[in-house]
Amino acid sequence: MARRNPCRLNEVEEHLCFGLAVKRIVKYSKLTPNSMAMFDEARKYLPGGVSYSIRYFEPYPIYVSAARDRRIWDLDGNEYIDYWTGHGALLMGHGYRPVIEAAIKQLKEYAHIGFPHEWEVKLARQVSRMVESVELIRFTNSGTEAAMYACRLARAYTKRKFIAKFEGGWHGGYDCLHIGVQPPYKAPGSLGIIEESLKYTILLPFNDLEGVWNRVKGIELAAIMVEPVLGAGGAIPAEPEFLRGLREICDELGALLVFDEVITGFRLSPGGAQRVYGVKPDLTIFGKILGGGEFPAGGFGGRADIMELLDQIKYPKPHERAFQGGTYAANPLTMRAGYTLLKELEGNPEIYHKLDQLGDYARNGLENAFSRYGLAAHVTGIGSMIGLHFTREKPRDARTAQLGRNVEKAKALFHHALENGIIYLTPEVPHLFISAAHAREDLDKLIDVVEDYARKATTP
Ligand SMILES: Cc1ncc(COP(=O)(O)O)c(C=O)c1O
Repeated sequence: MARRNPCRLNEVEEHLCFGLAVKRIVKYSKLTPNSMAMFDEARKYLPGGVSYSIRYFEPYPIYVSAARDRRIWDLDGNEYIDYWTGHGALLMGHGYRPVIEAAIKQLKEYAHIGFPHEWEVKLARQVSRMVESVELIRFTNSGTEAAMYACRLARAYTKRKFIAKFEGGWHGGYDCLHIGVQPPYKAPGSLGIIEESLKYTILLPFNDLEGVWNRVKGIELAAIMVEPVLGAGGAIPAEPEFLRGLREICDELGALLVFDEVITGFRLSPGGAQRVYGVKPDLTIFGKILGGGEFPAGGFGGRADIMELLDQIKYPKPHERAFQGGTYAANPLTMRAGYTLLKELEGNPEIYHKLDQLGDYARNGLENAFSRYGLAAHVTGIGSMIGLHFTREKPRDARTAQLGRNVEKAKALFHHALENGIIYLTPEVPHLFISAAHAREDLDKLIDVVEDYARKATTP
């Protein structure tokens, strides 16, 4: 007799789920009529009604009208505790006063000027004080741009073509890195990415040094790009020996090690994940918190002998140097906001102590909530990053995060949380960011709501 996969729903369960889903939609639409109307309008002008597909959830997203600290409010006045916190950018919560006030002061002086200014110098100095591997840095407006320029620089410096990235790793929408984020891993992550753009991209298995070595040995590799903690992949941390091993592999091959710290930078410690893991990359890319969390931000930095390839004084002829730039590169608002926040983070180890404590407390509580009711679900993460997985085993890479994955349960939990005033993204791959504005009582509420879901999901 064929054994039933415990992670699949049978017909009766599917029927019940359908009934529940309908009830849920009716309830949601009664609570959020203004968001529903706004979404109808949005669909007329924005494809899919949003500016980033990840922000959509079924049947339509809430439209936010106010945000403060750890809370947001929608157009209908519903209040939510927010664990999405601006794609993980808002380390201090929404509208952190020192950052907002710095931006207001800057607006009164000048916003966009397109000339060098003091705040880019201050922020660059501040980053290199905090992140040991960064000797020189250039600023962009997004993590995507930073990743793109870092790839180009790595290729320019090594005079090699191949870039390796990991299954489950997300570095933004740049063509040569936009593959292997979700299954099927070998397919480009978007229409319009031509084969040739991916010809020199190698996909690697996360947390598997032997697998990495087998794929890269003998290859003229320019760089390995890695998130020290898979973010969009579900908050799955690298094992410490894994990052140390990548360092050794890169040294052996003469390739650059690039850390994508767009999420982990200034979140896991003032010196980023590289300080926590004690591994020094050649280049690092940043975003999110770099700009104070409230403004578009990106940057890439690292060893001076590599970054110097961008130096127009040392290399006056454009074709002899690597290019980076842009109208709003190092925009003063972002630079001043970022400098204000980073300076504060540098002098406040207790912020990280609090974030780590809250993270541990939440992970413990959530694990207990699942195990108390025997629900096949697992909690991953480190520091203030949390991943929830309805999988057979606790994931340690992108592949195990797919094993026996029950997306319907993940979505049901998402809607249960939403109905109970808690929001995070995404419904399918829940990854939550705790901010310094969250308190233990918020996490108690999160744990209670998850436990309530676990109870209902396992009660016949
Ligand atoms: C790890 C990582 N790298 C790069 C990016 C791209 O950054 P951005 O959205 O600012 O382009 C993201 C965005 O979420 C990210 O999480």
